Amino acid sequence: MPILKKNKPIFLADDTITQPDLHELSNWILAGNRLTKASQTIAFEEEFREWMGSRHAIFTNSGSSSNLLMIYALKEAGALRNLKVIAPAVSWVTTVSPLMQFGFDISLCDSDPVNLGLDLNHLEYLCKTERPSLLILVHVLGHANHLDQIKEICMRWDVHLIEDSCEALGSTSGGKKLGSHGLAGSFSFYYGHHISTIEGGMVVTDDDELHQIMLSLRSHGWSRDLSKEKRNNLTSENNIDEFRNLYTFYYPGFNLRSTDLQAFIGRTQLKKLNKIVACRERNFGLYKASLSDYFIQESPTETLSSFAYGTFVKNRLEVFNKLKAEQIECRPLICGNIGRHPFWTRVNGHCDLKNADIVHDYGIYLPNHHNMLPSDVERVAEVFSSIAQPFILDSK
Ligand SMILES: Cc1ncc(COP(=O)(O)O)c(C=O)c1O
Repeated sequence: MPILKKNKPIFLADDTITQPDLHELSNWILAGNRLTKASQTIAFEEEFREWMGSRHAIFTNSGSSSNLLMIYALKEAGALRNLKVIAPAVSWVTTVSPLMQFGFDISLCDSDPVNLGLDLNHLEYLCKTERPSLLILVHVLGHANHLDQIKEICMRWDVHLIEDSCEALGSTSGGKKLGSHGLAGSFSFYYGHHISTIEGGMVVTDDDELHQIMLSLRSHGWSRDLSKEKRNNLTSENNIDEFRNLYTFYYPGFNLRSTDLQAFIGRTQLKKLNKIVACRERNFGLYKASLSDYFIQESPTETLSSFAYGTFVKNRLEVFNKLKAEQIECRPLICGNIGRHPFWTRVNGHCDLKNADIVHDYGIYLPNHHNMLPSDVERVAEVFSSIAQPFILDSK
């Protein structure tokens, strides 16, 4: 009887932390190094900041914590003239949930039918009618938004821009890395993202004051991690002596820190990041060539650090089951429309938006990671197109 050759499973993500990385980490741990609040975090932040081309970077315990931190820091900095914000309907729960938790009045913006970021007409309309002070955007699956136009709209309506870049580590647009275009940008180093620190995240900013506030908010609201100048200002303004200062809290803080162990891992991962980005970009190109009958996400991205391959199909459940039978993972195209999720509808009712609803009902994404070979992409595309009925989004 012929032996059936079994295909290897193709997962959405593969660990970027290798066996040699783990040996290096073990040796470092066994050498008796301090595992948290020590020099590795500072070194990782410095290397990441430099790689990003930003002035500051703050290591956190997740991408979600990074979003929470940058949003709350803007509030604490007194940078916002009101608590009105625009957020993308096609986003992630923790792009939006900190805004709810901090009492913002949130308007959801529809998605661009091509890059799946913000729809410019709807954004302009919301700025005009709602007069928000803040905009958070998401670069969906690594694709840049129309940043030039969005920055111009923000300037005209006096809106601060922050970027949830958790799916776009390494993508560039306008000659700059995504995440460095606004007042602050967030990243995720969860296992399923471009690089892993097991769990982890980062915020980057060029704003010195925001950086200082984030450092304090990350660690209980104390002043210990701040610059000498900022610490002296806080202690003298509040008349606090050196001893009392050790446990004096200047902001209503959190504990959003990661560990030095994870910073050590992050430093080894950062060295591989450019290669990982190149591999993801190549895989995107291969998918695009094989799946030309389906919706293709396009964007003004120069380097595309693709997170996954997103497209639209009419028979999603059938496709999901076929891929599953072939041991290929897939997911809905991130959240679809966040305005149709129970956490949102329970409070605000349904938020129907033309393009985001299409993403919600027809969107699917296929695996892309640094260990996928061209033959893996080919196999996924072949199985996918053997069953998937294209849904073409009307981009007019
Ligand atoms: C756009 C976006 N923002 C935030 C997050 C949250 O990142 P984390 O899982 O590290 O909390 C994710 C996670 O996938 C995401 O895709």
